[in-house]
Amino acid sequence: MSHLDNTPSTPGKFKMEKSPYVHHRLRWHSSLAKLTFWSFMFLGLILIFFFRSPSSGPLPQDPSRRSLRTYNWGGPAWEKRVRSSARIRSRDGISVLVTGAAGFVGTHVSAALKRRGDGVLGLDNFNDYYDPSLKRARQALLERSGVFIVEGDITDSTLLRKLFEVVAFTHVMHLAAQAGVRYAMENPGSYVHSNIAGFVSLLEICKSANPQPAIVWASSSSVYGLNTKVPFSESDRTDQPASLYAATKKAGEEIAHTYNHIYGLSLTGLRFFTVYGPWGRPDMAYFFFTRDILKGKSISIFEAANHGTVARDFTYIDDIVKGCLGALDTAEKSTGSGGKKKGPAQLRVYNLGNTSPVPVSDLVSILERLLKVNAKRNIMKLPRNGDVQFTHANISLARRELGYKPKTDLQTGLKKFVRWYLSYYSDGKKASE
Ligand SMILES: NC(=O)c1ccc[n+]([C@@H]2O[C@H](COP(=O)([O-])OP(=O)(O)OC[C@H]3O[C@@H](n4cnc5c(N)ncnc54)[C@H](O)[C@@H]3O)[C@@H](O)[C@H]2O)c1
Repeated sequence: MSHLDNTPSTPGKFKMEKSPYVHHRLRWHSSLAKLTFWSFMFLGLILIFFFRSPSSGPLPQDPSRRSLRTYNWGGPAWEKRVRSSARIRSRDGISVLVTGAAGFVGTHVSAALKRRGDGVLGLDNFNDYYDPSLKRARQALLERSGVFIVEGDITDSTLLRKLFEVVAFTHVMHLAAQAGVRYAMENPGSYVHSNIAGFVSLLEICKSANPQPAIVWASSSSVYGLNTKVPFSESDRTDQPASLYAATKKAGEEIAHTYNHIYGLSLTGLRFFTVYGPWGRPDMAYFFFTRDILKGKSISIFEAANHGTVARDFTYIDDIVKGCLGALDTAEKSTGSGGKKKGPAQLRVYNLGNTSPVPVSDLVSILERLLKVNAKRNIMKLPRNGDVQFTHANISLARRELGYKPKTDLQTGLKKFVRWYLSYYSDGKKASE
């Protein structure tokens, strides 16, 4: 008899009986107990195997539709790809984890870093906020230049920890986020998931890493919200966000302050101003105006109260990339190690804009000339769904400290965008409806 057979189900209450009938019942009970025990052990083993398997990352915690996915990662071949992608190939090179690498800005920054010999590893969850086939095409582009994008979510701390175990990243270029101002009214949870929970999850891993990396991350011009003082300077007020997107970016800036203060993480926030260019984002006006003008569909152009002009400080992607590289190259090391601060660390924030706002109606005129098609303009009042009337960056701080000098005017940049658009979508790919 095993020790199990003698164990009372309720300790102290069970009394051994001696009758043969009781013996028989006991034996039967003990077989049942054994069977139940081994069934549970077996089930447990299956569950442990399933969740611990190196080829299956744990489920992300976000309940939103897009995040209910498992990602395949792990195993020796996967680690080899991670190491090879992140290997530094130039003297004084850096090794960078780029989150949101399959995104618009992430693809361009990753390619630029790789070109100069830095080690680059991408991370992206390939969500379907906009056509994921465009993200896959960007992934294929990066793959050809030797950049591997790990498929996973920034809230997956097991995956992040693993990446830092495999590679001692010197820098993190954090671009993964739920972008877009209007979509925040449709799916607010996705902004909280990626821009707040995701950022904290990433910083938690960075603070515990040894060595801690320096982090450069994308904030946004939207933090200026209802600020009316122009041009927008870094010291202007940012406490009146006009959208949940803006509020999550502002929260990111405060979270950055906290991790810098407590853990000695070196953190640089970049406030991008309406970035555009080849491989851009289909949810942005210059992109869907192009699509709709070509289809002969009417486009909505917003104007503010009293026929006020709506204008944007459109910034060409190559200029933004230079700003990102400038921020990475001037970032000082984090000062903490293993979760402990050793001294004060760098905390910065910069505007990256073009510093010459253009009315949206002028953007449409440029597109008309480049596409050789007249747009069907539908002038509408600017709705109160998060968009602000104008943006205009003061970039003197970035110029002074990062050597940032935007060179591309809207006409030149849109010409490059239109050339890419026509070749990309005439290649058999369909611009999403
Ligand atoms: N493009 C602009 O005009 C602009 C302006 C201001 C700020 N920004 C910021 O710059 C960054 C890059 O923007 P973009 O235009 O390249 O956007 P994008 O949507 O093209 O790129 C973001 C990428 O992050 C990924 N991602 C989102 N949530 C994720 C998560 N939880 N885990 C892993 N990956 C995730 C997406 O799949 C996407 O590929 C974002 O932080 C954005 O908020 C962009």
